[in-house]
Amino acid sequence: MMINAEIQQLKKEKNALILAHNYQMPEIQDVADLVGDSLELAVKAAVAEEPVLIVCGVLFMAETAKLLSPEKTVLIPVRDAGCPLADHLTPEMVIEARKKHPGAAVVVYVNSTAAVKAVADITCTSANVAAVVRSLPEETILFGPDANLASYVQRQVPDKVIIPLPPEGHCYVHTAFTAEEIAEAKKSGCRVVCHPECQPSVQESADLIASTGGMVRHAGESREWFVCTERDMGYRLKKLYPDRIFHTSPDAVCRDMKKITLIDLLRSLREGVYEVHIPIEIAIPARRAVERMIAIRG
Ligand code: 13P
Ligand code: SF4
Repeated sequence: MMINAEIQQLKKEKNALILAHNYQMPEIQDVADLVGDSLELAVKAAVAEEPVLIVCGVLFMAETAKLLSPEKTVLIPVRDAGCPLADHLTPEMVIEARKKHPGAAVVVYVNSTAAVKAVADITCTSANVAAVVRSLPEETILFGPDANLASYVQRQVPDKVIIPLPPEGHCYVHTAFTAEEIAEAKKSGCRVVCHPECQPSVQESADLIASTGGMVRHAGESREWFVCTERDMGYRLKKLYPDRIFHTSPDAVCRDMKKITLIDLLRSLREGVYEVHIPIEIAIPARRAVERMIAIRG
């Protein structure tokens, strides 16, 4: 049997739902039940009826699904698909920062470990970051681990003081884009959209700043785009808007997102690997931070 057919059959037998992030390889996107951004995957995980969720993405996405659906079996097909950005921030750093800034709220990007979420007040994604920060009564916000997203939200919400935690947290895929590249793309007639994980100089030169879900929503507005985010976002956009042109950078590859293959997905379904477990003392406070974000839905 062809591997895709086998995946579909096993998925039915196991009553599993396959969730894939927009950066997954095309063949994984094609076989998934839902492809989306971090927020869309989290929301879907929270309401899914299937008892088994297979998250094709990186570990923090599978952990977020598990936090929201503790009674479900949540699987990630490759155990070491991580997010180097998430590793910039530890719970100890958050606890130290709280001591230095008593009275500040702690907002952490979902691209963080469950242990970091457990010591935060609330999480956010790039799709709802401004709404999350605006929703808080505190004027000072400790924000981690992405310093570029912190600078983005500072511009969106100028009446608050955003302190990046750590000051240098970043994603290597997104910080590789340059303002010069964008100027070139604009000169050639493209509209430019960038993810808020890009550097401030890139954000300032772009026509639009959006989460990957935001890119999906806005892509119909122009004929030709230069898309400053992970390369396989281009596959997702082209599939949705075949008559538009999307340029991406061939070097913008998230190595961890590319670890999951169809073979891994098939094995995950067959053998029930790798199950995500979060220790209860971390899961309870971390869930509170994620649920508080879901309740905002900005
Ligand atoms: P989105 O929430 O926009 O999908 O971004 C997730 C991510 O990891 C970006 O690098
Ligand atoms: Fe993490 Fe960057 Fe990969 Fe997104 S693209 S998962 S932030 S390493």
